[in-house]
Formats: sequence, C-alpha cells, structure tokens
Amino acid sequence: MRELDCSPAPEPFDAHGHPNPAAWTGALTASAVQEAAKALSQGFLVAFPTETVYGLGADGLSCAAVARIFQAKGRPLGHPLILHAANLETALKVSTQWSPLALGLANAFWPGPLTLILKKSDLVPSEVTGGQDSVGIRVPDQEIARRMLLAFAAQGSGLVAAPSANRFGGVSPTRASDVLKGLGPFLRAEDCLLKAGDCPLGLESTIVDCRDSVPRLLRPGGLSRERLNAWLKANAFSLLQTPSARGEELRVSGSLDSHYAPRCPLLVWPRAQIEAFVQSDKALEDRGLAELTALNLPNLPNRAEGLKLGLLLLEAREPWAFVSASSDALRPPMFNIDLQVLASEPEGYARQFYRCLNDWDGKGAELILVESPPQTAAWEAIWDRLRRASSKR
Ligand code: TXA
Ligand code: MG
Repeated sequence: MRELDCSPAPEPFDAHGHPNPAAWTGALTASAVQEAAKALSQGFLVAFPTETVYGLGADGLSCAAVARIFQAKGRPLGHPLILHAANLETALKVSTQWSPLALGLANAFWPGPLTLILKKSDLVPSEVTGGQDSVGIRVPDQEIARRMLLAFAAQGSGLVAAPSANRFGGVSPTRASDVLKGLGPFLRAEDCLLKAGDCPLGLESTIVDCRDSVPRLLRPGGLSRERLNAWLKANAFSLLQTPSARGEELRVSGSLDSHYAPRCPLLVWPRAQIEAFVQSDKALEDRGLAELTALNLPNLPNRAEGLKLGLLLLEAREPWAFVSASSDALRPPMFNIDLQVLASEPEGYARQFYRCLNDWDGKGAELILVESPPQTAAWEAIWDRLRRASSKR
C-alpha cells in the first residue's frame, strides 16, 4: 500500500489564539490528494480520513472496484456501503426522489456526519447497495476528504463508496496508524492510504432513512438526535422515529450485534462494581460474577502475569488510587492494568473511544471493563457502540 502523507497539518490556532480555518497547505498535500484521486479513477482502493472515522474508498460506480472493498474488509456482500460526494450537486445524482425532507436535511447538515438513505437511481450499481433499492449518501466535513472527492469528480465519477476502514466486525479506525495495522495486509501495492491526522469526531455518521415522510434513525452517530429533532421541529417535519427492532426489510450491517467490537470481551459496569472487582483479593472465579464466569477467562491464580485488563473510566473528581492499591507485593499480580480516563462529556469521550479500543486490540488486552456513562440522550451514540461492543460473544 502507498502511504500518501498530507502533513504538515494546519496549526489549530492562529497567532492571535483564534481557531485557524486554514486548510492543509504545501506541495506534499496537493500531490497526495491528486495521487489519491488518480488511484480511485484507476480502480484502486484509497483509505482516507473523514470527520467521523477513516473510510476505505473506491469508485462507487465501478463494480470491480467496489468488489475489492468487500474483499479487503472481509465484509459479506449483502451489506450496503455509503457513497461520499464533495457537494450536494454530485450527491443529487444517486437518487431521483429527493423529497423536501431529504433536501432540507442535506442543506442543513452537509457537509457533516449525516448519512441519508434514499431510493437509489439507476446510476448506482446494486453491488454498492447490497442488492437493495435504497442508497446511503453523505458529504463529509473534512478538508482532505473534500479535496480528494473534488479531484476525483474532475477525473472520475466523484462518488466514493466507503465503509469504515477496518476489517468486518472490528473497531473503526480514527488514526492512519489504525488503518495500517488493521487493513495493511489486505491491501495491494497500488492501493493508497491518505494520511491527514486523526478524525475529529471519532464516531461514525448518524444514518437517517428519508424515504418516507417520517424520518427514521437507523444508526445514532456524530450528529445528535437532539439537533436533528430541533431542526425537524423548526421546519414542521415529523420527528425522528426509531425502527422498533432489527431484521426489518433493511439490512444495516452496523445493526448486527457483533459490530464495533474489540477482540476481547468488553463489559460495561458501574464504577463501584469495577472498583470492587479490581480490589477484591478473591480468585477471579470466586468473585461471584456470572458475567465473568461465562467469558471463560484463563485461570488467573496459575498465571505468572496478571490478566491484561483495559480499564476505561470517566474523568471525575475522585482519584484512581484504587487501581494502584490493587497490587499486592505478596502475591502474583491479578491484573496487568492499562488505565484510560476519558472526558465525562460525550464529544470528548467519542473522540478518544475507538482509539482506546484499537490500542487495547494492539496490546492484546484480555478483558476490557468500561465505566457506565450517564444514561442521557447526549450519550445515545456512545451507548449504542458500547452495547454492540459488549455483545460479541
Ligand atoms: O461515518 C461514517 O458513516 C463512515 C465514514 C467512512 O463515512 N462510514 C461508515 O461506513 O461507517 P460503514 O460501512 O462502516 O457503515 C455504514 C452503515 C452500515 O451499517 C450500512 O449497513 C448502512 O450504513 N447503510 C449503507 N447503505 C444503506 C442502505 N441503503 N440502507 C440501509 N443502511 C445502509
Ligand atoms: Mg463500519
């Protein structure tokens, strides 16, 4: 795989300390973007950053190129891909049935982390949509993605099919290094990785089905239900509905339970339960936790090294002294703890969440314990990913 580096990234702040709207500058970036667009028009794959996660892109109108996405990801053919465009003008081509609702949402929230599901036009190959007559489309809000899509529109279709750039069922990548580790062995020498920093949102786009007059929320994500509903209400549309159960006529691969999951078991517990568990001096299997017994973890007392435990806690006033207090010099360590503490507000948490899971995958963590975040609407997308990540086995 060819790595196309877009550094240096713009300074986040200007000389006056104000956020810097400047784009990536420099000859390196311009040629990286051109190379990526060329690779797309030649039918190769290009992994690229968006504001949500890195995507694995291919020319969305080339059946052969799209087929290679499924191969590289190990993704079953029936699972539809999202198309990406630089602007609404190009996006319009994927459907001839843009309702006022769909157009309104596109105008209000693009570029941004919102995928619209529409009835597909004849232009869109059924390979992209998993054989369905609907299509997912979005305009990403990331400068390098935008430039790549524009350059590709100048020499090709301008429509890039791109799932998240990870192997099927695994954790989405938010850094170029995650893509390299996860997909590197499955890509060809001519495929590219466009490297342009970390993804600022860190969670996938929100998916809304707009084929009906009542919009349906298929996947919560980077754009909150609250913001969508506020706009829908202000514009006299019906508020978002949530499809009652899985297994309707729609096949949304992100709605499979085994999605977004790290390699090892992940459990979401209240803070007190985590503390009690880590501090207990009983053997693991004597801790009275049916949940853990079911996981069949290796027998701890016989191990020279402790269980590799990833701990994800929320930033709080309390110190995390219990983590170090749990080690006892007189007995072999029960745990080899890798502690990560994330922001206690959802945006900051989301930005780092997949990074933690990908790091623990890389380090061979054997169990991940996540402190339950608040049960409020603002945490909906994170709870959705936690639920999926914890129901792997
Ligand atoms: O933020 C994102 O959406 C990222 C970046 C790369 O844009 N992409 C992403 O793609 O998350 P993927 O393939 O990992 O997830 C796309 C989701 C899947 O759950 C898929 O089933 C659903 O979108 N989807 C795509 N087309 C659909 C369609 N026509 N009807 C229903 N669901 C669809
Ligand atoms: Mg994905």
